[in-house]
Amino acid sequence: MKKLNLPGPKAKALVERDQKVISNSYPRDYPFVMDHGKGSYLWDVDGNKFIDLMSGIAVNSTGHAHPEVVKAIQDQAEKFLHISSDFYHDSMVTLAEKLTSIAPMRENSRVFLTNSGTEAVETALKLARYKTGRTNFIGFTGAFHGRTMGAVTMTASKSLYHSGFYPLMNGVVHAPFPNPYRPILHIEDEEDYGETVVRYIKEQIFHQIVPAKEVAGILVEPIQGEGGYIIPPKGFFQKLRELCDENGILLIADEVQSGMGRTGKWWAIENFGVEPDIITSAKGIASGIPLGACIARDSVMDWGKGSHGNTYGGNPISCVAGLKTIELIEKHYLENVNQNGPYLIDRLTEIALNNPYIGDVRGIGYMIGVEFVTDKNRKTPNPTYRDKVVNIAFEHGLLLLGCAKSVIRIAPPLSMSRAEIDESLEIFEGSLKLAL
Ligand SMILES: Cc1ncc(COP(=O)(O)O)c(C=O)c1O
Repeated sequence: MKKLNLPGPKAKALVERDQKVISNSYPRDYPFVMDHGKGSYLWDVDGNKFIDLMSGIAVNSTGHAHPEVVKAIQDQAEKFLHISSDFYHDSMVTLAEKLTSIAPMRENSRVFLTNSGTEAVETALKLARYKTGRTNFIGFTGAFHGRTMGAVTMTASKSLYHSGFYPLMNGVVHAPFPNPYRPILHIEDEEDYGETVVRYIKEQIFHQIVPAKEVAGILVEPIQGEGGYIIPPKGFFQKLRELCDENGILLIADEVQSGMGRTGKWWAIENFGVEPDIITSAKGIASGIPLGACIARDSVMDWGKGSHGNTYGGNPISCVAGLKTIELIEKHYLENVNQNGPYLIDRLTEIALNNPYIGDVRGIGYMIGVEFVTDKNRKTPNPTYRDKVVNIAFEHGLLLLGCAKSVIRIAPPLSMSRAEIDESLEIFEGSLKLAL
């Protein structure tokens, strides 16, 4: 493990220029200044090489600059760059056909293409209101859904995201997300904690705050991302689906971070055996080219002409990048994640046994959270140690990204090989030791 001299002179100069002209709202943790990337590796502007366990916040699903994705973009760029969603073109329809074929619903579905995750969420919220004629939503604490006004209202991972922006969207109530590592509600006999949370929604929220008949949708990440890579207990989605069915509420799965093969299935909700009514996608869908989607059952996405739209939705460059990404995931990377995901989790679990501050390792596929605590029994969050590990790893050529109070999210490109996993874990393990 070699210590790099960071930031190098070119990186330093660019950070200084950035600080003068770029909005100071961006949450930058360390000064990585990218020059180029290839597969699981990236190089900064000073020629330093890094390995990637965060893939641009779970976006570079096919690795950096996959030649087939690049070629698809180049070929499309020579034909046309834009026509707008008021007109028709082949890659937009073909992408929607592909997305509906892999959507986790048996009923036929339809697609609204967006430019980002937050816009996909905004679309889902508007659609749910339109379809049900109801105004209210239930969300979950710890959730992250984006930064536009509706999505940021549903977001409840940090109050900082709301600070200075009130009033937010009307009609949103949050329930605790069923975090098995940190349950906060009283669990009754024979109940799993997911069932407890649904009982809380039914008995407390519907009874005391908002009547079920006035709730349009329940918006939930099948596995929480920004909230700490948290996997809900088995009973949660079964009971949540029942609750929605009993009350005519739409179940909206936000798969922006957890979908597109990250858990070894197309959608994380498939791990829980229920069908949502609406899903949102973005991030890994197009290998880094801005693209999002709101996919809904045919009977739900039934709104009139002109009721929702955008200029760039279905941009041809985004669509061909999306199509090629989905093709590569289907051909190679679902299998890669299924083969190597359990190995990665096992290795991290082993590493955790020898570290006094790793309280929990959890995950499915290439979506793994490592939570740091000051004491394994009390589970007090340990952000100081977490931040130290992230910084030391950076100094030794490994890119990591934190989430929640004291978690590191392990979200490599879906193309990462076993040898590359070993290489990155060697630096991770070394960084954990140096940070002690
Ligand atoms: C689950 C989830 N939903 C929505 C978003 C917002 O996506 P974007 O940043 O593309 O607007 C994110 C981004 O991190 C996310 O993780």
